[in-house]
Amino acid sequence: MRIVTAVAPVNIATIKYWGKRDDDLILPLNDSFSATLSLEDMCAKTTVMISPYLLENKFWLNGKEENMDNPRLSNCLKALKDRLNKENSEEVSSWKIHICSENNFPTAAGLASSAAGYACLVYALASLYQVDGDITAIARNGSGSACRSIFGGWVRWHKGSLEDGTDSIATQIFPTDHWPEIRVLVLVVNDSRKKYSSTLGMKQTVMTSELLKHRTKFVVPDRIEKIIDAVHKKDFQSFAKLTMKDSNQFHAVCCDTYPPCFYMNDVSHAIIDMVHVYNEFKGQLKIAYTFDAGPNACLFIQESDLSEVLSLIRYVFPSNLNANEYYRGIALDKDLFSKDL
Ligand code: ADP
Ligand code: DP6
Ligand code: CO
Repeated sequence: MRIVTAVAPVNIATIKYWGKRDDDLILPLNDSFSATLSLEDMCAKTTVMISPYLLENKFWLNGKEENMDNPRLSNCLKALKDRLNKENSEEVSSWKIHICSENNFPTAAGLASSAAGYACLVYALASLYQVDGDITAIARNGSGSACRSIFGGWVRWHKGSLEDGTDSIATQIFPTDHWPEIRVLVLVVNDSRKKYSSTLGMKQTVMTSELLKHRTKFVVPDRIEKIIDAVHKKDFQSFAKLTMKDSNQFHAVCCDTYPPCFYMNDVSHAIIDMVHVYNEFKGQLKIAYTFDAGPNACLFIQESDLSEVLSLIRYVFPSNLNANEYYRGIALDKDLFSKDL
């Protein structure tokens, strides 16, 4: 019997991945760039066990049994077993497996649970099967964004150009301690499951959006280089502007999808307004927002501004709005994650 437990954090994309050129291999239309949160923050925790005495494969997510006939899960398992080292492979690869995973934050709510979840699963399995070398391409088989959570710090997912996807991997561009003044605030506007999964949403976008073609060809390549340069120089002004513009263009592309997918809501828009009014008032960019496929906000700020920004959020979204379900996450401390990178 072998048993391994791993923990993996979410990553927040500042240049977004949205759209695949190959749905089965999960190959993206453009490169993306993200920051991985620290291991104490929003994480998936996964235990995997193999044994000759288990009768069938089983998978529990957040305490509920899930179907193991999931092609993404099977693809990850197959890719790892293909890389088993020959000496112990025969026996071990036939043993049944039990997987048990829990997220310490809302699942499928646009807070990157698929990224932390599959990165964690693949990392745990790689250790269980003693697989060495790059595993980002395997994590990508679970969920595209998961390949970036294999590393800490600032990470780029290279779209690659090979048909088999072997060069569509993630690499760490800057280590975790590169820009220690950066903090991420996650504002939970609504923790329920999104209406359309990221997978379905982006598929519909690829089929119908003209704007996506423009974005992937003319906008993202330049933005990736510029944001890497901004993070390299710790230039918060450039970093913040690129991050906000990319979030906005990603949601514009969702709006250009037919029928459109709206992931943000009125509270998300109120957060965007608050950030721009505050930045304007300060005469420089102090906060950068970014929204994934959901209404919840991730704010990038510098440590020296943290306490004032927290006060601002409490002032604009005071707890007496708590009666409204949508304000829950913002108003209460317990739901408001302040994270060190
Ligand atoms: P999110 O915005 O949270 O990433 P997605 O729609 O991209 O939402 O993906 C949600 C799906 O990811 C879940 O329905 C589940 O299939 C998978 N997932 C989430 N967390 C885990 C986990 N810890 N382990 C395995 N799979 C997970
Ligand atoms: C908006 O990685 O969840 O968070 O590859 O189909 O599993 P699949 O999609 P997923 O999409 C993430 C989209 C995003 C942007 C990003 O993380 O880059
Ligand atoms: Co996801």
